[in-house]
Amino acid sequence: MRRPIKILGLAGSLRRASYNRGALRAAQKLVPENASIEIFELDDIPPFNQDLEKSLPSAVADLKEKVRSADAILFVTPEYNYSVPGVLKNAVDWASRPYGDNAWDGKPVAIMGASVGTTGTARAQYHLRQMFVFLNMYALNRPEVMISNAAEKFGQEGNLVDEVTKDKIRELVKALLSWTIKHQNMQRLVEA
Ligand code: FNR
Repeated sequence: MRRPIKILGLAGSLRRASYNRGALRAAQKLVPENASIEIFELDDIPPFNQDLEKSLPSAVADLKEKVRSADAILFVTPEYNYSVPGVLKNAVDWASRPYGDNAWDGKPVAIMGASVGTTGTARAQYHLRQMFVFLNMYALNRPEVMISNAAEKFGQEGNLVDEVTKDKIRELVKALLSWTIKHQNMQRLVEA
């Protein structure tokens, strides 16, 4: 029997009723039985300071440890000014440092995002995908989950209520699991 797949989920908003944090909580509930999603909240991650990258703040050390022990990563990004919010970019930067100790290296990864506009974070998602090249993360191509008009799909507390969106998230998580298993099988073949 294969051990359960561990996904680490990060959402790039600190807002209490954030749609993106809500989408991540929804993913956590929609995950199949052979997997789990642990959510890492970014509230305690300080602004990046390269002077500290060799003796990391404890929240950052915790983040890096969680990233390392995960089988796969799920990013849920808002779109700020057509790009990735500083909160998420900041966490990505911390866990990629110091040079040569990039915790994201080789991880399978998927993205989704929710915005109040009509493009559902498309532009932010493509900026995030570009970062995966340098980080050496293996990005799932499809399905793309871009949740537009989020105010109509989430309740007052930021919980997802739209069933069509839930189905899309379920598909994304399923695809990330098979992508991760393929990746692990390939690793085993290479190492055999
Ligand atoms: C936004 N928002 C936004 N929306 C969008 O579709 N494209 C964009 O470029 C931006 N830019 C932007 C910049 C800043 C600074 C803020 C605060 C907001 C609106 C955004 O979609 C909305 O605030 C979401 O609710 C943010 O996600 P959370 O916090 O609900 O997860």
